[in-house]
Order: sequence, then C-alpha cells, then structure tokens
Amino acid sequence: MEQELDPINCKMFDPLPSPLPVTKYIVEMLEKRDLNREEILNALKLDPALAAQVIRLANSSVPNVGISVSSLKNAINLLGLERIFSLLEISLILGKKREREKYPISIKRFWAHSLLVALISESIGKFLKRYQYIETDILFCAGLLHDIGKLVLCTNRPQELRKAVVASTNKVFFHCEDCSCSHVSVGAFFAEKCFYPPDLCSVISSHHAPEESEGYVMLGEVVHIADNMAHVLGYGVVEKESVPEIKLEALKRVNLQGESLRVIASTALEHHKRIRLQVDML
Ligand SMILES: [Fe+2]
Ligand SMILES: [Fe+2]
Repeated sequence: MEQELDPINCKMFDPLPSPLPVTKYIVEMLEKRDLNREEILNALKLDPALAAQVIRLANSSVPNVGISVSSLKNAINLLGLERIFSLLEISLILGKKREREKYPISIKRFWAHSLLVALISESIGKFLKRYQYIETDILFCAGLLHDIGKLVLCTNRPQELRKAVVASTNKVFFHCEDCSCSHVSVGAFFAEKCFYPPDLCSVISSHHAPEESEGYVMLGEVVHIADNMAHVLGYGVVEKESVPEIKLEALKRVNLQGESLRVIASTALEHHKRIRLQVDML
C-alpha cells in the first residue's frame, strides 16, 4: 500500500482544507486577547483539519517515549499554548491560500458530518460512562477524525475521490471506492505516518467494520453507530450517497435502546445547531 500511495507521502503534511466560515471564526477567536486553554480547545474541536494537525504534532513530539495522545485536551496539555497557537496561525495562513480550490466533496458537508459524528460519539460515551470506564474526550476526537482519509484524498488524489463520488449516487459511498485508494486505507496510512496512537488508527481504519478493529472494538463501534446516525439524520458527506448499513453486533454490544438513541441524537443535533449558528454555517 505504501508504494501505491507515494504521492500522499510527499504531500501529506500540506494543510487540509477547512470551510471558510470556520477559518474566519477561529481567526476571530485568535485575535481576542488572553485566549485560555478552554477557548483553544473549543476552537480545535470545531475543525477536523486543525485537529488532525494537532494530534500529529503532539504524537510526533513523543513517538519514542511510550506516551500516546488520543484527545485534543491531552494534546494541548502536552504541547502547551505557545506551540498550539503557532500551529493555528500557520495552518490558517496556509489554509487561506486554498480558499478558492474546488474539491470533489463539499468541505462544508465534510465539516458538518465530522462534527456531528464527534458530538454523537461523545454523547454515547457519556451515556456508557454510567456503566463502564470510557474516555469521552477520546471518543470526540475519534469521531472528528474518523473520515480524515476523505480530506487527505481531496488534496492528494482528487481524481480517485471524484470517481467514487460520481459512482455513489443512491449507493453507499465506500462501496464505490477503489480499495487501494479508499478513504479508509488512505486515512489509515495518514494516521500511521502521523504517529497517531493505536486507538485513533484503529477507528480510522475500521469505522465501517468495527468488529475487525484490533483491540479497540468498543471505540470503533461507538463511532460506527454515530457515523450511521449522522447519515440517517441527513448529514452524510456526499450529497446523494445512501445511508451505510449499521452492524447489528455493534448496536447489540453498545446496548443502547431506541429511546436512548433518540435522546442522544436530539441532544447532539441541538449542540450541532448551536455550533453552526456560532460560526455562521447554517
Ligand atoms: Fe467513513
Ligand atoms: Fe463518516
């Protein structure tokens, strides 16, 4: 796989695209004085592209010391505000250059999908926390980054991505992808090259088949369910794609009843709407 994806290897550290209103909102936040840790965290939680860079930076600064960073909160604690602040500034300056580029998928739809999957994953995590230990910050981050392969394809393999988008009218998008260049395989490659920890790598590479994940089945199942719910709620990434099938074993193991799922979905949607209003994305 590595050889086939060589072009990605060369360009993978280019900034990934973000929707302009999100960029503007973050710039406005940065211009405020005395930005605190909480505000920086909230800014990062808004943008899968920035979050991907922060997780990469945090893990590449500690690849050999046995620490892995799977949540944005821990990444901020490890890197410190100074470094996060510089990264935000650089990403925003470089990202602005990409403003007018046309991508095979809508970056706004990608953003809305990733954010909703993150919020639903976090909500499911809060629910499950009553019964078992589960790290909701990691679930949020895993949900936000689960489809990062699609963004990497936008900037590195747009033709392959466009082909799959065109083929996916009324079909499940990932069934229309070329296996050697799917968002899952490219996302997994990206995560590995960016020193992402095993839990995030596992979700990125197995969110459509969580039973295949190595050692992080529950994490993958929660994101899988959240991904499916986002599609059912009308927040898929590709406009005319069909809703992917949900794995019944995942639903069974996570053990959420219909009413709980409804409450989780409506809470996450409310939160999603507030964020979209905040950044002017409605
Ligand atoms: Fe996916
Ligand atoms: Fe997804």
